[in-house]
Amino acid sequence: MSTAIEATGLTKSYRAVPVLRGIDLRIPPGTVFALLGPNGAGKTTTVRILATLTEPDAGTAAVAGYDIRAERSRVRRAISLTGQFAAVDEGQTGAENLRMMARLAGLGRAAARARAGELLARFGLSEAAGRLVRTYSGGMRRRVDLAAGLVGEPEVIFLDEPTTGLDPRSRRELWDIVSDLAARGTTVFLTTQYLEEADRLADRVAVLHDGVIAAQGTAAELKSRVPGDRLDLTLTTSDAYLRAAARAPHATHHDPATRTLGLPTDGTARHVRALLDELDPGGTEVARFALRTATLDDVFLSLTAPGPAVAHERTTTEEAPTHV
Ligand SMILES: Nc1ncnc2c1ncn2[C@@H]1O[C@H](COP(=O)(O)OP(=O)(O)O)[C@@H](O)[C@H]1O
Ligand SMILES: [Mg+2]
Repeated sequence: MSTAIEATGLTKSYRAVPVLRGIDLRIPPGTVFALLGPNGAGKTTTVRILATLTEPDAGTAAVAGYDIRAERSRVRRAISLTGQFAAVDEGQTGAENLRMMARLAGLGRAAARARAGELLARFGLSEAAGRLVRTYSGGMRRRVDLAAGLVGEPEVIFLDEPTTGLDPRSRRELWDIVSDLAARGTTVFLTTQYLEEADRLADRVAVLHDGVIAAQGTAAELKSRVPGDRLDLTLTTSDAYLRAAARAPHATHHDPATRTLGLPTDGTARHVRALLDELDPGGTEVARFALRTATLDDVFLSLTAPGPAVAHERTTTEEAPTHV
């Protein structure tokens, strides 16, 4: 199998509202792929199509080498899907849930018990194994759900926003689990709204925007697509901040609380000077500045910045007097 997931032209509309407008994906086996996008971007829709739970309107896809339409049950046997909301039975203990899943996956009683014990230990749940899932913390619940999905040893695992709503510590624990899965050769397809998570976990990242993959590559490749640096300007007063913000529709970062604006720059003295002059023509309103290297956040914002409105505002501000 040369690709774990391959999709061409996936399209989906709900009541004539397009959600996916032609998604192409190619994910090598044993890698972690992150589909990144804000709420409503179509991440879950993409996952559901690849997991054979939703039919696309058009396009084709193969998962673990099987066609999502013609070989639906084979796809389902090769994958596991873990959602944002845990699917385990709250009225049973962690151990009971996993034993039941193992029995459903076709294991005998003794083998199911052994498999459950192994997964509980691997996910740090041995101590809580005998407690009802109802009493678990959010992080524990997410882990037992993930463990349940691994009972059948899937080739491809879909994690739909696995860390949404988790506290920072549980999030970090889950990151370790995902890294460990990939190290064991499982292909991981995860969706996230967190750039930091994609940056940290994924071999490749795709940004879903307006129903298409707006950019795809390693986190480093994506970062190299935006101007390398960001100039952060801290203004002296709130009024000065508002004036500078009005002159800078291309700002990618706004923080009124600290009166700071961030703008893309190539980092040369010439460009930094030009930006200072543009935002602070009188030369008295910028209190401090700092140069920062690009983050995935900057990539995301530059890809998803609204188009026409910004272009219009920019035209009007360019008529304002500036000295370069
Ligand atoms: N079953 C459905 N019926 C109608 N609209 C849906 C359905 N599922 C998703 N949508 C819509 O499709 C869009 C994308 O949803 P979704 O894939 O859940 O996004 P994400 O997971 O990125 O938040 C949203 O506008 C959502 O309201
Ligand atoms: Mg979703």
